[in-house]
Amino acid sequence: MSYPTTSLLSMSFLLRHVKSYKDHSRLASTVHTFVMAPTLSSSLVDLTTSLSLTAAATSGALFAIRILSGEYNLANGIGVANTSLAFFGNRLYALGESDLPYSIRLTSTGDVQTLGRIDFDGKLVTSMTAHPKIDVETGEIFAFRCGPVAPYLTYFYFDAKGNKKPDVPIFSMTRPSFTHDFAITSKYAIFADIQIGMNFMNMIIGGGSLVGVDSSKVPRIGVIPRYAKEDSEMRWFDVPGFNPMHAVNAWDEDDGNAIVMLAPNILHVEHALERMELIRALVEKVRIDLRTGIVTRHPVSARNLDFVVLNPSYVAKKNKYLYAGVGDPMPKIVGVVKLDVSNGERQEHTVANRMYGPGCFGGEPFFVAREPENPKADEDDGYVVSYVHNEITGESRFLVMDAKSPTLDIVAAVKLPRRVPYGFHGLFVRESDLNKL
Ligand SMILES: [Fe+2]
Repeated sequence: MSYPTTSLLSMSFLLRHVKSYKDHSRLASTVHTFVMAPTLSSSLVDLTTSLSLTAAATSGALFAIRILSGEYNLANGIGVANTSLAFFGNRLYALGESDLPYSIRLTSTGDVQTLGRIDFDGKLVTSMTAHPKIDVETGEIFAFRCGPVAPYLTYFYFDAKGNKKPDVPIFSMTRPSFTHDFAITSKYAIFADIQIGMNFMNMIIGGGSLVGVDSSKVPRIGVIPRYAKEDSEMRWFDVPGFNPMHAVNAWDEDDGNAIVMLAPNILHVEHALERMELIRALVEKVRIDLRTGIVTRHPVSARNLDFVVLNPSYVAKKNKYLYAGVGDPMPKIVGVVKLDVSNGERQEHTVANRMYGPGCFGGEPFFVAREPENPKADEDDGYVVSYVHNEITGESRFLVMDAKSPTLDIVAAVKLPRRVPYGFHGLFVRESDLNKL
């Protein structure tokens, strides 16, 4: 690869573990959580790990033994805070869905400190999704937890100051679903009840896998008002063949009588646990008419896409542009595409793309608005950023691409002093937010 050079950027690089209790309890673990924080005036913090869903699915017996032997203390949490990050309530959190959030901070020298595991004054128990949704209009944070024992799904939200509101246990989810992500609109929270599930007794008694595929189950989408107080307000819609691990965005239509959700649907979900390279994910636009219950779906691209992001200001609002990692094969990301989902059905929605080149693989892209405080700025007025590693030369670079360019032109490329492991999710944190920590 050759890139334009720039003298406009300066960057420092560091690699740190989030110091979770589980990591402390097992220092020789092969499971590592890294926080990678190149510091410009702001930071893109990227969480990476060697733990995969496959590993989680196959290590049930070992995990059970460690709990029963006391090596893992469940009261201290069992996560490694390795999946994603979120900034809310003036705190930066490292998140893993099997545990509570870990508060971290960046020092003035760019170092990363683990402040501790946060239970929000005792109101948050056990765990929280690694994919909370922040409504920038209201400042509220919406989240959930799922688990292998009932209630399998629990919904909750935080007010704009980060105060957690009461749990809403969802007992109408009658079988445990590996619900990893969800979406919100301005009126609703939307959950996918997928065929990847959890079997706690199989792990504890049988020593088998916690996570498995239940092909007898019909996938569903659950829609509950954002401020619902009880499960009775949840409505479920059968959506056969719809097994998304991630959700991208959702919005209300038709005066709140319909919702639209965008999500990469994993085809052949049986491969999700053991043959990830066989996964093919199509980003689908799903529309649910809440009056008739009719669900309509169509893919927005023929490509194998996941790690799909958008301008964060458009979460819960109708948006036009998505930026997605191209898997070839999953989970290796060979490039990024920009999709215009406002285009009609039955056509490829890709409007821009950049492939990283032979031997080069990236992580999840992230969209950074050029003028985030300007309400008149175009939705795609900003940059798509990602780490890219060249497996032939061993070089890693941090790429900054022009989101408006039809070829996602690289406007800056920063050579990194060492490889950034391929990871899950990251977060761009502005200097003004870093100063609040
Ligand atoms: Fe995720």
